[in-house]
Amino acid sequence: MRETTFERAAGGTPPLAARAPHARGVPGGNSAPAAGCEPRVRRLTARDAPEAARLASEVFRENQFYRSAIGFDAECFDAYWTTFIPLAVSDPHALSLGVERHGRLVGILVLAFEGFPSRPRALRFMAALARAIGPLPLLRYARFVRHYESAMRRPHPERALEARGLWLLVSREAGCAGLGARLVRAGWDEAARSGRTISTGFVDAGDRRLLLFYRRLGFDIGTPFSIGAVAAATIVRRAPEAPC
Ligand SMILES: CC(C)(COP(=O)(O)OP(=O)(O)OC[C@H]1O[C@@H](n2cnc3c(N)ncnc32)[C@H](O)[C@@H]1OP(=O)(O)O)[C@@H](O)C(=O)NCCC(=O)NCCS
Repeated sequence: MRETTFERAAGGTPPLAARAPHARGVPGGNSAPAAGCEPRVRRLTARDAPEAARLASEVFRENQFYRSAIGFDAECFDAYWTTFIPLAVSDPHALSLGVERHGRLVGILVLAFEGFPSRPRALRFMAALARAIGPLPLLRYARFVRHYESAMRRPHPERALEARGLWLLVSREAGCAGLGARLVRAGWDEAARSGRTISTGFVDAGDRRLLLFYRRLGFDIGTPFSIGAVAAATIVRRAPEAPC
């Protein structure tokens, strides 16, 4: 994602919500944040990595779907976040957004584009993950990634248009509704600036509330399939102007 003139001049990251056309809701989308909520969406940087990894660990601690699909125990999942988040915030083929309330990070969206992860970063990530979790969990992770990649495969011409949602999470303690939807919309807007008009993801097919969340945002849900002991589904949403 190219840095904007504004960001270079300001030497920082402006709140994305301030310039996001969808920030106050789309027809059929989830509700906008409640009045007085005042969330701020911004791009995450390397400095945010420790806090973002902590937040991700906290939100996914009870999530059985990914633990079971990947084959991680709680400790491996924590180690995954401390190695993955630095990769996500530094790779030029990824976009990591955070939503803050009262200066505290309460939600994260990570989008990946064609070319993610870049080879040297991917090697460093795998080496760090191997050191942190050991060989067997690493093998399970590699097997999950193979299945994931095969489920997410798209026709070649579409790959350059794809913004793949790797992770979306909002703290239960955020104290404000609409943050997940807001992050997704901010991600669309940023991705569309570089021509990425097809949004995709990989979700827990057994989580009806989550499926409803994505349906309201305009995603189509694919046919469920088994991964490990759980059922997953892919999701896709094409921006109205995207070619079929
Ligand atoms: C899914 C999630 C990002 C939604 O964020 P949010 O800020 O709560 O969502 P919004 O306020 O914009 O929208 C509310 C809708 O989200 C969905 N939702 C809320 N909490 C949810 C949860 N724990 N699990 C699944 N879906 C949930 C529901 O559809 C809800 O609508 P409802 O209140 O009418 O049931 C958030 O609940 C979360 O982080 N869940 C755990 C991690 C996860 O499953 N991430 C998605 C896969 S990567």
